[in-house]
Amino acid sequence: MADRPTARSHQLLFLFTPLRLRKIPLPEGSNQIPIPRSETPALAGWPSRDYRRPVSALDPYQIRSDFPILNQEINGKPLVYLDNAATSQTPLCVLDSSRNYYEKINSNIHRGVHRLSQAATAAHEAARETIAKHLNASRPEEIIFTSGTTDSVNLVASALGRSDLLKSRDEIIISGLEHHSNTVPWQMLCERLGITLKIIPVLDDGTLDLEAYDKLLSEKTKLVSVNHVSNAFGTVNNVVHICSQAKKFGALTFIDGAQSIPHFSIDLQSFGCDFYAFSGHKVYGPTGIGILFGKHDLLCELPPSRGGGEMIKEVTFEKTTYNDPPFKFEAGTPNIDGGIALAAAFDYVNNLGITNIADHETLLIRRAAKILEDLDGITLYGPDDRAGALSFNFEGIHHYDLGTLLDQMGFALRTGHHCCQPLMARFGMTGTLRASFAAYNTLEEVESLGKSLEKALMMLR
Ligand SMILES: Cc1ncc(COP(=O)(O)O)c(C=O)c1O
Repeated sequence: MADRPTARSHQLLFLFTPLRLRKIPLPEGSNQIPIPRSETPALAGWPSRDYRRPVSALDPYQIRSDFPILNQEINGKPLVYLDNAATSQTPLCVLDSSRNYYEKINSNIHRGVHRLSQAATAAHEAARETIAKHLNASRPEEIIFTSGTTDSVNLVASALGRSDLLKSRDEIIISGLEHHSNTVPWQMLCERLGITLKIIPVLDDGTLDLEAYDKLLSEKTKLVSVNHVSNAFGTVNNVVHICSQAKKFGALTFIDGAQSIPHFSIDLQSFGCDFYAFSGHKVYGPTGIGILFGKHDLLCELPPSRGGGEMIKEVTFEKTTYNDPPFKFEAGTPNIDGGIALAAAFDYVNNLGITNIADHETLLIRRAAKILEDLDGITLYGPDDRAGALSFNFEGIHHYDLGTLLDQMGFALRTGHHCCQPLMARFGMTGTLRASFAAYNTLEEVESLGKSLEKALMMLR
């Protein structure tokens, strides 16, 4: 496959005649079939019940009215937003939360005796509690506000690097499915401390080679860090197994939950991980806010990663003593309204029901895979049981060219390496085209993607 986008698509763009999105009639009641509530999907890293059932209890058309951004045209065509794995859209209740905050209680937290500061502090700490409850953490103090997943990984890498838990010739294990955010911070730590970074290989179907993982583990393993769901392929990793195997060797475990938080009910007690991280903007929350969960004992033991206000107990020029978790890790003024708005996003998700959302997305992704696999020259990546994202390429066509043409037709899909260059290299490609789904996407949009891809392929071939 060519390494660069070709000029062909650009020539073709002005030849391209506008396509009207056709109304595709859905089977009567197909969005309204009641389903029994199942066990929390994330318990074993993947739902126990049969996810092939094409049912959904959500009405995405109703949900769409909560997302004004979706109601617009791009290049004269209705926007079809299928880039949710990069950033999901934000519902009105989350926007209202931020607006309310700035209209009514905006002030700095924790240090004020005045009424506004107390109200902002109460709202911020209530948000921490909501998030702790959503994740089934054992206490709110295990929830650290960060700016996102990347920040959370860096926080732990930096704190571990300053602790006496690691020494040279120890080993850290990550997987070949990781986002650069869950690769580079560990690489930097390894370089600094003389630690070896080991990689769990990826099998041809886009799943992890767990037999190889078992063999990588040893007494030297000090940390295992993997994602729950791959942003590139939608692969769902069995994090319960990965964590329990790591524990046999006394290794710490870090789960990058950036792509599982929007699609799964997260029960951290059942995961058995030491750390779990995610970004608010992938779960209907705002950008610039994220969470690091850490087990309380561990957070007490680790040194802070950054110094400043809020993270101290007492400062003298001779010596500073540190605050208790979570404040020890929250130096400086946090993203106060972002934390509160993130809790509002979880209220929104819980109101829809995370299992309903997961069922709906599974319906969409299975339908999309079914439609796309019939297109000539396609390769779909990842296993059949994908969560959230569907990655693909067409023989002889650059993903960027196709993405550009789709944009002209109103579709927002992601092209490129998805911050997973080692994974792309493993599959001998520079990138893919990725469609990723959220609660507000419809079967109609999926059908329309298939038709538009067909049209774009005809133009490029
Ligand atoms: C699996 C995974 N990890 C980490 C990240 C980084 O998230 P952020 O840029 O919000 O820090 C992403 C973002 O796409 C991701 O998908």
